[in-house]
Amino acid sequence: MQSETDIAQRATSLLPAPRAVEGPTRRGLELDDSTTLWAAPGTESTERWLRATLGAALGLPLRPGAPDAPDGIRLVLDQTLGAEAYRLDVTAEGGAQIRGGDPAGVFWGAQTLRQLLGPDAFRRAPVRHGNRHGLPHLRVEDAPRFPWRGLLLDVARHFMPKDGVLRQLDLMAAHKLNVLHLHLTDDQGWRVEIRRHPRLTEVGSWRSRTKLGHRASPLWDERPHGGFYTQDDLREIVAYAAERHITVVPEIDVPGHSQAAIAAYPELGNTDVVDTTALSVWDTWGVNPNVLAPTDTTLRFFEGVFEEILELFPADAARFSAFVHIGGDECPKDQWRASPAAQARIADLGLADEDALQSWFVRHFDSWLAARGRRLIGWDEILEGGLAPGAAVSSWRGYAGGIAAARAGHDVVMCPEQQVYLDHRQAPGEDEPVPIGYVRTLEDVYRFEPVPPDLTADQARHVLGTQANVWTEVMEDQGRVDYQEFPRLAAFAEVAWSDLPASPERDFADFERRMTAHYARLDALGVAYRPPAGPLPWQRRPGISGRPVDGQPPNR
Ligand code: ACM
Repeated sequence: MQSETDIAQRATSLLPAPRAVEGPTRRGLELDDSTTLWAAPGTESTERWLRATLGAALGLPLRPGAPDAPDGIRLVLDQTLGAEAYRLDVTAEGGAQIRGGDPAGVFWGAQTLRQLLGPDAFRRAPVRHGNRHGLPHLRVEDAPRFPWRGLLLDVARHFMPKDGVLRQLDLMAAHKLNVLHLHLTDDQGWRVEIRRHPRLTEVGSWRSRTKLGHRASPLWDERPHGGFYTQDDLREIVAYAAERHITVVPEIDVPGHSQAAIAAYPELGNTDVVDTTALSVWDTWGVNPNVLAPTDTTLRFFEGVFEEILELFPADAARFSAFVHIGGDECPKDQWRASPAAQARIADLGLADEDALQSWFVRHFDSWLAARGRRLIGWDEILEGGLAPGAAVSSWRGYAGGIAAARAGHDVVMCPEQQVYLDHRQAPGEDEPVPIGYVRTLEDVYRFEPVPPDLTADQARHVLGTQANVWTEVMEDQGRVDYQEFPRLAAFAEVAWSDLPASPERDFADFERRMTAHYARLDALGVAYRPPAGPLPWQRRPGISGRPVDGQPPNR
């Protein structure tokens, strides 16, 4: 079944592309029932993952063995390698050996080993008789370009049940992505249990109906929509991620994007301007005028929320776990302009205007988090008004915010909407399901460059990495999320991990060639990706309008 040529070819289809591959030779190593696994201290997470995931897929027991077993798998830490770097050797004398610069490096090496075993290694149970699985003799040397290789998942606009989030973590691990930015709250839903404020989920976690398509669409889905993660669900998600060397960064979006919280606790809104008792969880899309009131009540309420968030997302769970995202984007100032209470606050604090009031609000939580040993990260709007030195910025309105942040000495995650918002359509024409935003094809994403040329080398060191953002207004279930993510997330993963040349020299044809093998892996994983020839009939959404229809600049 598995010819030597097939096995050797797998070494040329790795994705994301590794730094260097030596070999493969046509000879190889066979894994079977007798293959043992030896794990040095510090590599236990990969040992567990190999048995649970690869062992289940291929029907291999991977029994504990001796460190010098000639045909076993061996996991070792090697401090001569850098952070997250690994070296994988498959030889006749030494079996398969993964050396990692740290435990994460060993884990990424195991992801490469899985790809070398072919698509069956991506299933959950064996599909073939005769448990012999060939590996080519070779050496892979590899290390990531960026430490932050992120995916934002918006579970507020459409809730993704816990199992779906765990599956996303598995998909991220398979692509060597390591930060899940979980957008937990928005106008359309509050998705995290907060014990001291139970109405946030009792009231805020569901809406009675939902706009179908772009907000300009006349259609409604009249079914109630909702859901939330219990605190134990989130502990499980964080622990599952940490086993895979992935950080979960929680986002509680303030002071805008807060109508679900205000619907639950009307005193959080600008009660001298609107009757906030009449608000419900928002059922449509866009930028919402109902923002938090800049009062002591609001500050104390959200300090309580963040106290529980800090417990659920401990700082030592994974590499970037000190970060807490506070949103800070798209906060219209109309209510603050009209509110006597907000104006009195501006006067009391001696602030120039409503923008300065937002800065004051963000800086409050910046200091509050810093005092607890944590780091604030927010959307690039938070730069307006100055930040504490440890705060970081997610640059979404193009590169400009990220450039300004890096020049001011702040760390940056580059996620410009023009390039890596995966809710945006991936082809022109009418066939894409609920097409919104820019047309951003697989090749466009492959050619995305996270570090703008405007930065000096010193400033560029502040670019922690990059992130693809999946906003779910028009993605009501897992299949829709899969479709928008894949195959583009595979291209994004290569941009984030691999040391690619500048965009014009990037070899997209070679990426496409490797994608042929990768589609087989995605099939085995059960990913409902967009096929290269366009959506399958059941992936289309005829009659549900997106916007714009003619490829003009988007108006989300
Ligand atoms: C955003 O897309 N409003 C961060």
